[in-house]
Amino acid sequence: MNFDFESRINRRGTSCYKWDFDKRLTRREGLLPFWVADMDFRVAPMIEEALKKRLDHGIFGYTARPESLDEALIGWFSRRHKWNIKASEILETPGIVPFIHMFLQEFTSPGDTVIIQEPVYYPFRKAIVNNNRKVAVNQLLKDENGSWTMDLDGLSRFIDESGAKTLIFCSPHNPVGRVWREEELLNLADLCRAKDVTVVSDEIHADLVHSGYRHIPWLSLPEERLPRSLALVSATKTFNIPGLTTAFAIVPDPEFRLGCQSMLTALGLGEGSSSPLSYAAAEAAWREGEPWLEALLEKIDKNDLLLRERLTDELPGVLPGNLEGTYLEWLHMDYPGNLWKKLLDEGLWLSRGSDFGRSGEGYMRMNIACPSTQLEEGIDMMVRAL
Ligand SMILES: Cc1ncc(COP(=O)(O)O)c(C=O)c1O
Repeated sequence: MNFDFESRINRRGTSCYKWDFDKRLTRREGLLPFWVADMDFRVAPMIEEALKKRLDHGIFGYTARPESLDEALIGWFSRRHKWNIKASEILETPGIVPFIHMFLQEFTSPGDTVIIQEPVYYPFRKAIVNNNRKVAVNQLLKDENGSWTMDLDGLSRFIDESGAKTLIFCSPHNPVGRVWREEELLNLADLCRAKDVTVVSDEIHADLVHSGYRHIPWLSLPEERLPRSLALVSATKTFNIPGLTTAFAIVPDPEFRLGCQSMLTALGLGEGSSSPLSYAAAEAAWREGEPWLEALLEKIDKNDLLLRERLTDELPGVLPGNLEGTYLEWLHMDYPGNLWKKLLDEGLWLSRGSDFGRSGEGYMRMNIACPSTQLEEGIDMMVRAL
């Protein structure tokens, strides 16, 4: 099947966060954006068809989550990730970020310490700070091959010193692009189990894994090795439908699940917190979207290669990390001055590395999920600016 990843679709004027908010967020206009993590590709035709079919029906009344969506979710994770999820383990949430906020309110107390591993997706830190909890950062370490690893000795000491009982884990890891290996996951599980630390495993990037790597779902590790855990999954990142919000918490432990369910119920978020269009899109994605995803992964690999080749030839001072997962390049760009502004002045809008934690200083994150001509233009701007 052929899918179009090269047409440039004008997203301006759709209240698009990525394209329409440059003046408000950067005080500049007409920027070429490579920042927020959504893709400039049209959705898979199977999703568009499902949405059209649902639209044609013409009535959009109160809608509860269909059982067929749970079946599609279960089928997807079993086929793609060898992870067997039971229907009873699935809880619905309006989004992963809202879930993390709610979770912290329910399962921690003000003043408690919550661990994250920076550089990491910055809403993790925000969720902790917004809820008056303390952020404890176990920094990821960069090894001699430029690969990022978890500092488990540091984490162990840290848990002992801070008394933290919650870890928000990112797998695959945004922004450094790591796909954690089984051994790393098992070591983390052993440590957290021994120290009674609950793990919230955010796996929104699970499907965006490049050839030679395999995402291992946290909850597919042997049960007897796991601490109290839940995983957060969604079709929105993989299939570029984050505006059609749906997300799911998978919570195998019945008591823990009951706690999570009560938390959702107390907030008035029962079954059916999304819209009929969101359900239709997610179900079509998980039922029929595999060929599109395979083509997408090839396209990202091509863009990754294009970026690397041009940087090697034209900007050897900019060093991309290993892109094992995600479509987000973590670029080491150690240039003096305010580099982010310098790039903006040239029209190029990247994510500032320091937004992902202090250890992100000297880095920029570049979203390469876009048509080749757009990526080339962005690289041209980078070359001119530097
Ligand atoms: C690691 C991670 N978690 C969660 C999200 C967003 O999740 P949601 O839109 O369901 O709140 C993103 C989006 O970039 C992400 O990278």
